[in-house]
Amino acid sequence: MQTWDAIRARRNIRSFEDKPVAGEDLHRILEAGRRAPSANNRQWRDFVVSTDQEQLHELAKAWQGAGHVATSAVTVTVVLPNDGDERSRELDLFDAGQAVAQMMLAAADLGIGSGHASTGDKAAVRRVLRLPEDRDPAYFVAFGYPADRPLRPLQHPNRRPFEEVRPLRPLVTPKAPGRRGRRPAARRRRCLNA
Ligand SMILES: Cc1cc2nc3c(=O)[nH]c(=O)nc-3n(C[C@H](O)[C@H](O)[C@H](O)COP(=O)(O)O)c2cc1C
Repeated sequence: MQTWDAIRARRNIRSFEDKPVAGEDLHRILEAGRRAPSANNRQWRDFVVSTDQEQLHELAKAWQGAGHVATSAVTVTVVLPNDGDERSRELDLFDAGQAVAQMMLAAADLGIGSGHASTGDKAAVRRVLRLPEDRDPAYFVAFGYPADRPLRPLQHPNRRPFEEVRPLRPLVTPKAPGRRGRRPAARRRRCLNA
């Protein structure tokens, strides 16, 4: 796939085919994460790889929204330091997001689906992955071949309209008497990526 197609084809996959990801493909996905930029090039993130089915099932129990980890071919846990100050934490999370996005796009380029998940019960995740206390298992990224339909560029992604995301006037938070400013409309819409 071309980069632009991979960007448009990536969507969260939460149901995977029972098919492994080839070693060289996994290597490329991880390499895409390794090459991602980070603040001051700190690279304070590690990628812990799980392919063992029993381990994947254990990890999936850590968070209510991580069920898809159980049936993934591979799940990468992005691990950050657990002991920084607020500024470090902010940078680490931003850097983790950059690495995750690159891994997901590299996967999409290979026709491999991916799905984020929070880690919820971090103590449980540490236990399963044998991580020390000073490491934060920040996010899961599950990978595998989509069970529903192959990745293809989406014509109508479930996103706020372009003009709304790129406003031509100064941004203001709309306020109505008696209620707080509301989140953007996409958060309230319910429709599937198509
Ligand atoms: C920081 C972050 C955390 C997320 N956590 C979860 C999660 O715990 N479980 C899940 O199923 N999806 C999770 N997602 C996926 C989002 O729900 C998804 O990206 C969003 O609905 C847009 O859909 P799309 O990725 O298909 O474009 C997470 C995404 C991000 C960026």
